[in-house]
Amino acid sequence: MKRVFLIVLDSCGAGEAPDAALFGDHDCHTLKRISQSDKFRCENVCKLGLSAMDGQDYLPPVSRHTGAVCRLRERSAGKDTTIGHWEIGGIVSPSPMPTYPDGFPDEIIDEFKKQTGRGVLCNKPFSGTEVIKLLGEEHMKTGDLIVYTSADSVFQIAAHEDVVPLETLYEYCRIARKILTGRHAVGRVIARPFIGEPGNFTRTANRHDFSLLPPRKTVLDALKEEGKTVYAIGKINDIFAGQGITEKVYTHGNTEGMQLTLEALDRDFEGLCFTNLVDFDSLYGHRQDIDGYAAAFAEFDAWLPTFTEKMRPDDVLMITADHGCDPGDSHTDHSREYVPLLIYGKNIKPVNLGTRYGFCDIAASIAEYLGSPYRGDGVSFMRQILKPSSDEKRLCAAAFDAMSRSYSPYSGYKVGAAVLCSDGTVYSGCNIENASYTPTVCAERTAIFKAVSEGRRDFAMLAVCGGKNGEISGLFPPCGVCRQVMAEFCKPDMPVLLMRGKQSFDRSSLGELLPGSFTPSALKKR
Ligand code: THU
Repeated sequence: MKRVFLIVLDSCGAGEAPDAALFGDHDCHTLKRISQSDKFRCENVCKLGLSAMDGQDYLPPVSRHTGAVCRLRERSAGKDTTIGHWEIGGIVSPSPMPTYPDGFPDEIIDEFKKQTGRGVLCNKPFSGTEVIKLLGEEHMKTGDLIVYTSADSVFQIAAHEDVVPLETLYEYCRIARKILTGRHAVGRVIARPFIGEPGNFTRTANRHDFSLLPPRKTVLDALKEEGKTVYAIGKINDIFAGQGITEKVYTHGNTEGMQLTLEALDRDFEGLCFTNLVDFDSLYGHRQDIDGYAAAFAEFDAWLPTFTEKMRPDDVLMITADHGCDPGDSHTDHSREYVPLLIYGKNIKPVNLGTRYGFCDIAASIAEYLGSPYRGDGVSFMRQILKPSSDEKRLCAAAFDAMSRSYSPYSGYKVGAAVLCSDGTVYSGCNIENASYTPTVCAERTAIFKAVSEGRRDFAMLAVCGGKNGEISGLFPPCGVCRQVMAEFCKPDMPVLLMRGKQSFDRSSLGELLPGSFTPSALKKR
């Protein structure tokens, strides 16, 4: 049962992105900023690989890290939570979500008034508590709705629960949600009900978010469709508007989010557990509380080993972020930053993947690990970090062994290959040369022809190695003729292991080695 645990440290950026200036940001570096606080602790994330991340010169070095590490740059044209998470889920957004520093335009407000039959008060960016203090009484007298926004992409409707019944307020939100489409597709419409008397209003817990639906399929949708579990912890369910989620639980902050993620380890499921730890952003990033942010990070770092110790052999943990929110830069808003990515598990090699362009590579990699065909806008890095499977080891051993039987008196190059059939049977082969040279047969074809002549055509993987006198000094990739023979019997996604040593290899695929190949189907078309 393969499981991926994906944890988003909300706003934990890893340094100014190359395009930060386009987003009004400079000198922002959330992680470096908090690392300078006395409250900061990072021993366990550093051991996992954070010390080795590109651009890092502020954390203590470690001699050997246990996980894979990467720095990711965002491709989407936005720096908010929704766009960041959607990209993690596989969708790049070409434009930011609209914000309304001068209030919503008449075309929106007029339509909203027409459909609700009510007037509108405020229509400006405003503090939620201040706006009801200022306009609550007028709202009670007239029944007009208090509509306001913020620096985020939100359309918020405040109304007294005695003046507008909750269900009616929610219906007004649905109306707004339908009006706010196209270039006015705000991230969230939010119901903000309140109670009390003038001078003494309080907001109730009946707040409700009506999020924008992700515009395309995410890896969450794909996994759900494939019958796998997608368990959302914290605000993940709202960010994806419930799409692609099979189970959800909301939290009251980081501590509870970590606890629930730990408990999820005890559940039996196949799929994804997706957690958002929101306090970093909401309590510390926006409020410019450097020590608070550092202490929350220290709490996460201390929690980490309790999680990794309990992980099962096929579990993979990924830790990343959705944007930055440097608590020490010149503004309280998010910052356009790189984000860290740490990947850990018994199946994962401690590889440094450098810097990659696109949070969406996370979605593609999760899909590949869980055996889903989904890739979205990203490219999977899984095959660069997965440890060899038992089949891969077996196949490499067979290819290496076959190499010793090479008949190559003319070139002196010994080559070995092995193919794996779907039932686990392995056929191996070596190159066989000839005094008149042209009848020479390559190792791959020997292996494939042996298998085909035994009635096998169901090939699942191929490995090949070779070198002068049987010394492997680098890759020995299949020649064009062998690739063509493979294309006759194998699918483009069939893995091909290009061996670098007795047990080490690069993962490729037939499709990459011979794209757009001539196959039997080309003859059937006519
Ligand atoms: N060879 C293979 O066995 N497989 C390939 O895909 C490339 C080449 C052999 C043929 C020949 O015996 C030797 O390598 C040198 O070309």
